[in-house]
Amino acid sequence: MRVIFYLFILFMIVAVLYMAVALLNKSGNTYEPYSKEDALGLPAMTIPEDNPLTAEKVALGRKLFMDRRLSQNNTISCAMCHVPEQGFVVNEIATAVGLEGRTHKRNAPTIFNVGYYKHLFHDGREFSLENQIIGPLLAENEMGNPSIGFVIEKINSFPDYQGLFEQAFDGQKANLERVNLAIASYERTMVSGNSRFDQWYFGKNEKALNERELNGFRLFSGKANCISCHTVNKESALFTDQSFHNTGAGWSRNNKVLSSLVKKEISKQTFPVSLAPGITVEVANDHFDKASETPKNDVGRFEVTSNPDDSWLYKTPSLRNIKLTAPYMHDGSLRTLESVVDFYNVGGEDNPYKDQRMVPLGLTQEEKADLVAFMNALTGSNVKRLEKEAREAYFEAPVP
Ligand code: HEC
Ligand code: HEC
Repeated sequence: MRVIFYLFILFMIVAVLYMAVALLNKSGNTYEPYSKEDALGLPAMTIPEDNPLTAEKVALGRKLFMDRRLSQNNTISCAMCHVPEQGFVVNEIATAVGLEGRTHKRNAPTIFNVGYYKHLFHDGREFSLENQIIGPLLAENEMGNPSIGFVIEKINSFPDYQGLFEQAFDGQKANLERVNLAIASYERTMVSGNSRFDQWYFGKNEKALNERELNGFRLFSGKANCISCHTVNKESALFTDQSFHNTGAGWSRNNKVLSSLVKKEISKQTFPVSLAPGITVEVANDHFDKASETPKNDVGRFEVTSNPDDSWLYKTPSLRNIKLTAPYMHDGSLRTLESVVDFYNVGGEDNPYKDQRMVPLGLTQEEKADLVAFMNALTGSNVKRLEKEAREAYFEAPVP
């Protein structure tokens, strides 16, 4: 009898514990937007205390990111400059084009892994994803809204948003802050690691990289010294030192003193423009130039600090998913990874403020190809899934 009594007590204790765990799960503490595997090779991300990740906020943020109605005339979404199928950039143009074809002086960076960065934009003028969003919503050459109130009124009037903010924010309606919190939450889930490099370096899978790629990494961290700015640590690798450097890419463009390398690069440039799904034409660069405004002056980090020493410094970009995010550099001036390696091999563009590490590297053709092969092995394993999830955002047709 006694044994049965003890067994009953034990059963009750186990049941209470089980219920407590289930309740904790329900309160959202265990929401996991990406798997541990997706993040192989990436450090732990700092999530702001006042914006914890929840499934409702992330889904809402993704919908806002994909929604063309967030622009003044319902044509431009965030995703039209950060296109899911094009590595969350636009592969077809060097610098971004916004509302009504207005030109932008810089190339759109990818939003893969953007939750890890200390500074945002090529000149690092912004620090948090929450604050960054107001820029594109109002910029007249991006989404062109006349005011924040204008966008919020619109969102509140769309039937397919009814209840979504309330669900994500304890019954509260849409406002600027909540739009920012939701989109930033979505961006923090754009974690993309577990590339073949990560499987080799952090996962200890010896077969993940081939000989060329291995040699590419040897050059990257040795003779070519790329690693001194595109950092790889023992525990994780962001491929950026989160700092700013003058490689010459900005200086030469701005001073119209183009080296023969850049001149050659520009003259041969054509961009693939897709006319319809599967139909692409190559359009010569000078056709774009004829149709667009003269590019605005760009002095890089100086525009933020007003310190002359910061002239033509740009943020070191991560190299994760680099194969997918052409064209390259803040101005999209280099179209292929081969051109980027050629640029570094001659020591970048000479100018009085050039980083001292930018020196001729003396790489052979073979070595240059190996470096490119290595960079091509930095594509995350979940890219296709992130693309697909972005396109699954739900909209009620038709657009007003
Ligand atoms: C017209 C094209 C365009 C649109 C629309 C646009 N962006 Fe961008 N985005 C850019 C360009 C260009 C930059 C780089 C600007 C700079 O460095 O000065 C950028 C930079 C960013 C960055 C910084 C990334 C980094 O590595 O520093 C984030 C994050 C971002 N955009 C998110 C968004 C979000 C969210 C939206 C929608 C609310 C949006 N963008 C709409 C073109 C666009
Ligand atoms: C002195 C620091 C430094 C060194 C060394 C360096 N980089 Fe960079 N890298 C940068 C900066 C800064 C940029 C951005 C320049 C810009 O936007 O104009 C960049 C841009 C790039 C890009 C384009 C990324 C994009 O998304 O547009 C690639 C690719 C790249 N570097 C590869 C390399 C390789 C390969 C090496 C070695 C051969 C190397 N880098 C050495 C600082 C450096």
